[in-house]
Amino acid sequence: MSTSNQENQTWKSKGTFLLAAAGSAIGLGNLWRFPYITGENGGGAFILVYLLCVLMLGLPLLMAEVSLGRYSRRSPITAMGSLARHIGASRSWAGVGIMGVLTGVMILSFYSVIAGWAMSYTYESFAGTFTGMPADEIGKFFSNMIADPVTLTIWHTVFMLASGIIVGRGIHKGLESGLKIMMPALFILMLLMLLYAITQTGQFGRAVEFMFKPDFSELSVNSIIAAMGQAFFTLSLGMCTMMTYGAYMPKENSIPVTCLSVAGLDTLIAIIAGLSIFPIVFAFGMEASAGPGLLFISMTTAFSQMSFGAIVGGLFFLLVTIAALSSAISLMEPAVAWLQERFGMSRAGATVIVGALIWFVGLGCVLSFNLWSGEEYKLFGKTFFDILDYLTANLMLPLGGMLVAIFAGWKMGRNKMMKELGLSTTLFNLWMPLTRIFAPAAVLVILFTSL
Ligand code: PFF
Repeated sequence: MSTSNQENQTWKSKGTFLLAAAGSAIGLGNLWRFPYITGENGGGAFILVYLLCVLMLGLPLLMAEVSLGRYSRRSPITAMGSLARHIGASRSWAGVGIMGVLTGVMILSFYSVIAGWAMSYTYESFAGTFTGMPADEIGKFFSNMIADPVTLTIWHTVFMLASGIIVGRGIHKGLESGLKIMMPALFILMLLMLLYAITQTGQFGRAVEFMFKPDFSELSVNSIIAAMGQAFFTLSLGMCTMMTYGAYMPKENSIPVTCLSVAGLDTLIAIIAGLSIFPIVFAFGMEASAGPGLLFISMTTAFSQMSFGAIVGGLFFLLVTIAALSSAISLMEPAVAWLQERFGMSRAGATVIVGALIWFVGLGCVLSFNLWSGEEYKLFGKTFFDILDYLTANLMLPLGGMLVAIFAGWKMGRNKMMKELGLSTTLFNLWMPLTRIFAPAAVLVILFTSL
């Protein structure tokens, strides 16, 4: 389906797709969201369901999204529409792309606020604020920070400006260079923190037990939904993001190998984050279910006691910020591409509009942690932040993913998918029923039980 002009837009090297896709997948979802959601949902049993979801829903769907993107060589909104036209299916399939645009805007509105916390912690760590600070004061520092809407707004603004500048400059220039150094650096620092957790806390065994010994009495229907939502969120699935990146993937790249690498790396980082955080949590008598502050409070406590903690901590939060940035870009890209295509806007203009909208909605998330945290501002016991997070991760991403699965499994036709995926017949015969039947059925059953 591609024209030569569009073909020129494939990534410059084979490894770049992997880097960009991993850059999108690995972010706050692994480092911030996974540990705290795991803590809130009781540990082992939740992680087991999460891992099953990654393997049986996430991986097949990731392959589906990337193949659809590469097959169409178009941005996701046009991709779904033009694929549908190409195979004679209804044009309303384009709606999946539009829903993805909206989901991205909603996710980035809270994502940017949390990334702002990471920026603030980068600054404070390097400045030595936490050096030698007692554990309870570190907790108080966090509470004071989120109680202050001005500080949160400033950092949220800085993060959105940074994301906007990168997106506005265009996908290639913005992405290809920095990630090559930052992603491996993050990985190495994570390993160092793991080493610290193993050797210094005396609680590593307890953390392993908490994370890997399933206690099914802890598992509610809500935990199952949360586990599924986390699998979609962390792999950037269900809003056609990976489709956008697939459109830039060279034909010679193997979709199964790359997708397996992305999902594997992503899961590995999340597990390492958990294994580093929970020993600290237990060693300092914190609550595993402490909520969104978990990463910030626990890691900072460790850095405060460590030699060179200010530098290690500053570097750590800097890399968390950069991981968040490479995911933010992929959250913003669909909306920007949509405005460009639909209304013929310039890239810069589209970026300004999308960025401003996200920034504005983000203010509601800023207030969720302070002025709007009271019961009178909650809906079903949830703050504005909770609602955005719940709606996107637990409902919109799984629904989007389900529609993509139905499209790839039922509408595209066996031969086209088999050719694009490049799976062996045996593996294809595993992929097909997972995509056709298991994924849509699982999403529906899990969502319906929640109602
Ligand atoms: N996967 C990202 C993370 O784990 O932080 C978040 C995300 C990025 C979700 C892009 C969805 C998306 F399209």
